[in-house]
Parts: sequence; C-alpha cells; structure tokens
Amino acid sequence: MLRRILYVSSIAEGITDRELTQIVAVAQINNRRLDLTGALAIGPGVFAQVLEGPVADVERTLARIKQDDRHVGVRLLLDEPIALRLFDRWSMQLLIDDRAAQLAIEANEGRAVARALLEQMRLQYTEDPYLSPAAMRGMALAS
Ligand SMILES: Cc1cc2nc3c(=O)[nH]c(=O)nc-3n(C[C@H](O)[C@H](O)[C@H](O)COP(=O)(O)O)c2cc1C
Repeated sequence: MLRRILYVSSIAEGITDRELTQIVAVAQINNRRLDLTGALAIGPGVFAQVLEGPVADVERTLARIKQDDRHVGVRLLLDEPIALRLFDRWSMQLLIDDRAAQLAIEANEGRAVARALLEQMRLQYTEDPYLSPAAMRGMALAS
C-alpha cells in the first residue's frame, strides 16, 4: 500500500543555501533506500513537501521531519492512499518555482489550495527535461 502526503512549513530563520543543499542530499540518500519519492518546493519563508511511498516508511520519515528544527509549524494538507506515484523519478528534488511558492504561502496561511499546490509541483516535475532519465541519457551520449 502506498501513501502520499503534502505538507507546508515555515523555514527556520537563518537557514543557509548550504543547509538547504544538505537537507535535500540527506533526503535523497534516505528516500532512495526506503523507496520514497517526492519533491520539496521552497519559497520565501516556506517549504512545501510531497512524500510518497510505503505507508509505514512515509509515517516514520514524516515523524523525523516534523522534529527537524530547520523548519517549524509543519501543517499536513493532504494525506491519502494512492495507487500510483506522481513523482516516481525523484527520491527528492528541490523545486524553485514562483507559482508553487505563492501557493505554499497561501496554504501555510490556511487557504484551501492543497490540490492546486500538488498540481503545480507535479507540473514542474513533468516539465523538467533536464532531470528526466531520457535527457540524462541524451547528455551522456553527447559527451
Ligand atoms: C523541509 C525538510 C524536508 C526533509 N525531507 C526529508 C526526506 O524527504 N527524507 C528524509 O529522510 N529526511 C528529510 N529531512 C531531514 C530529516 O528531518 C532528518 O534530518 C533526516 O532524515 C536524518 O534523520 P536522523 O538524523 O534522525 O538520521 C527533511 C528535513 C527538512 C527540514
């Protein structure tokens, strides 16, 4: 059984680019091992994260993430059983996107934009040719 969650949170003050890179790097290693997939959108002061995978592993990972003091006020927007993943190529990937950031801010303020936020993050995932396996194969062949 697979599960998907979407949450928003407020980024702790003083987080540097280096720490952000580290969050994503650790997430990628752990998530690959657990067969978790997803995306982390970032905007001014906010994170929005999608995490999908086996129910128990999503649960355990979310519990760890909630304890992390690099953000505060984790607010779960979606939590649902799924048959198919939306982000199956990404163990975790940072999305820097104005529209997703705006929706994350609105969601963090409590407006009902969870679906729109998920769709926006998914749109970026499908539009990102650089990270697709096909594009990477193309690059490898070209070099
Ligand atoms: C916004 C945010 C997103 C995170 N996403 C993940 C994730 O997807 N997977 C993961 O294993 N850790 C993630 N982490 C890091 C965890 O909070 C934790 O530091 C990491 O899993 C290592 O845990 P440990 O020190 O207990 O081994 C995230 C942290 C933050 C602040």
